Amino acid sequence: METKRFGFGIIGCGNIGPSHANAINAVADAQLIAVTDIIEDKAKSFAEKFNVKCWYTDYQEMLKRDDIDVVCICTPSGMHSEMAVAAADAKKHILCEKPLDISIEAIDKMLDAVRRNKVKLSGVFQRRTYDSSIKAREAVRSGKLGKMVLGDAYLKYYRSQEYYNSADWRGTWSMDGGGALMNQGIHGIDLIQWIMGDIESVFAKAGALARDIEVEDTAVIVVTYKNGAYGVIEGTTSVYPAIPTRLELHGEKGSIIMEEQTITKWQVIGEESKTFEGDEKVGGSSHPTDISATGHIRHVIDLISAIKEDREPAINGESAKKAVEVILAVYESARTGKEIRIDDLR
Ligand SMILES: NC(=O)c1ccc[n+]([C@@H]2O[C@H](COP(=O)([O-])OP(=O)(O)OC[C@H]3O[C@@H](n4cnc5c(N)ncnc54)[C@H](O)[C@@H]3O)[C@@H](O)[C@H]2O)c1
Repeated sequence: METKRFGFGIIGCGNIGPSHANAINAVADAQLIAVTDIIEDKAKSFAEKFNVKCWYTDYQEMLKRDDIDVVCICTPSGMHSEMAVAAADAKKHILCEKPLDISIEAIDKMLDAVRRNKVKLSGVFQRRTYDSSIKAREAVRSGKLGKMVLGDAYLKYYRSQEYYNSADWRGTWSMDGGGALMNQGIHGIDLIQWIMGDIESVFAKAGALARDIEVEDTAVIVVTYKNGAYGVIEGTTSVYPAIPTRLELHGEKGSIIMEEQTITKWQVIGEESKTFEGDEKVGGSSHPTDISATGHIRHVIDLISAIKEDREPAINGESAKKAVEVILAVYESARTGKEIRIDDLR
């Protein structure tokens, strides 16, 4: 029996587009059919590199193709919703880069379009797919660490001024939606919330300390989780050198410390302490294109299974929206000097 191959189209042939193309090529029942970039040269050379016959400069044209089942959205963050709504209205399933978009209104429009058209939407947060993340979450959620006391995330990236100057959308409120948090730190904020449980409130300071940008390059946040635990999140793109992303999960009966995909400490009362080296390479803290395809491959596999089984993807729209809500609350707290409850923004 011939198995159906799912046709994919990519919108946006910049830094992250190749991770999607590599992932699609690595999955047996996925096939990259066409790509779009508003810059003709980029679309053309991307298509040549990945041996794709069809390229477009207008994504609406690509959406007319019957042989495309899934659209990967890899464009500047503030464009995601508009493109997702158009893709959903064209009855395409969607794999959308983080953040889903940069405002709750824009995200809700895409979630409505997805519901209305009965298509699937998966948000990319590749770190959730890593074995170490899954192990840490299971330990916290099963009560292995006892009552949770602290959930900390240290998200220290290095991005030069040249990085911010490299595309006109970077470091802007209108298209990046923020800086060190909305673009880079969002991975760690999503992950710690996925592991610890929902964040209830934030109290933050944020500013541009070293880069000439309108959004924050550095932020410090005091967090309260709904389960009663406290935490600290530090995010920056302006320290040299970048430090591997570090999550520290502490309960009254045990602690887990993760550095990128490696669990460097797993110590629980009554158990032998251990470490765990995941086989995924995370990357990205020093350079934006230094990202392995492993997580994106897992996203493609999950989305295809979700379509076949008619179930929600592992990271559906509602789930991917949560990190954006927290970051918008952080910005509101930094602006007003007040503690902000996430529920009050809803
Ligand atoms: N998951 C990850 O680890 C990861 C890593 C990097 C970027 N991202 C996300 O991916 C998105 C893109 O980031 P990037 O660094 O690849 O940006 P980029 O600027 O390198 O690439 C974006 C591409 O979109 C194209 N584009 C702009 N407007 C378009 C339009 N109307 N139609 C078609 N193409 C258009 C641009 O010409 C450019 O080639 C962002 O949302 C970012 O947050 C995710």
